[in-house]
Amino acid sequence: MDNLVNTNYTWNELTSACNKCTRCALCRDRTNVVIGRGNPSADVMFVGEGPGKQEDLQGEPFVGAAGQLLNSALTALRFSQDSYYITNIVKCRPENNREPVAEEIGACIEWLRIQTRLVQPKVVVCLGNVALKTLIDKDMSISKERGNWYVKKGILFTSTYHPAALLRRSELKQDFWQDLEAVKAKMETLYE
Ligand code: URA
Repeated sequence: MDNLVNTNYTWNELTSACNKCTRCALCRDRTNVVIGRGNPSADVMFVGEGPGKQEDLQGEPFVGAAGQLLNSALTALRFSQDSYYITNIVKCRPENNREPVAEEIGACIEWLRIQTRLVQPKVVVCLGNVALKTLIDKDMSISKERGNWYVKKGILFTSTYHPAALLRRSELKQDFWQDLEAVKAKMETLYE
């Protein structure tokens, strides 16, 4: 296992290192490492949990059913495609879409730290419990914390439901929409 990660990576170096990563067992079954997509210097960064089947096959985050739901909400709220960057807590697919375990998150989180340093977002939106617990506070839960805002190291953090949860429970859609509207409003205040 390569414990040494160069935190001064450029995007090209990060991509190449990520694609070769063997820091945890998820590397064994992956088709592609799913690094991220969108504007690499966006002001808002969305962070999901980990790639699903479609994402693993295509090498891009949020391209399956949950991604389509997220994309249509973002389009409806007039987030243009180049206004955000989107990535995940873990970059390789956990089998059968299970949640990544602590060891996998610990092995992968340095890639997200480097991405954050490169993107320099003003706002980070955690999609679901795994991102919330990893990036804001391990003792929080999305149903209680969604929509709340925190500042960490000069970056604004908030959270909302994971779009996959909305596919199972459509009653969550209203809160999800409200949270994304609040993100949009917050972004607008940053440009005033
Ligand atoms: N769920 C996630 O958390 N991330 C993806 O990229 C796709 C589904």
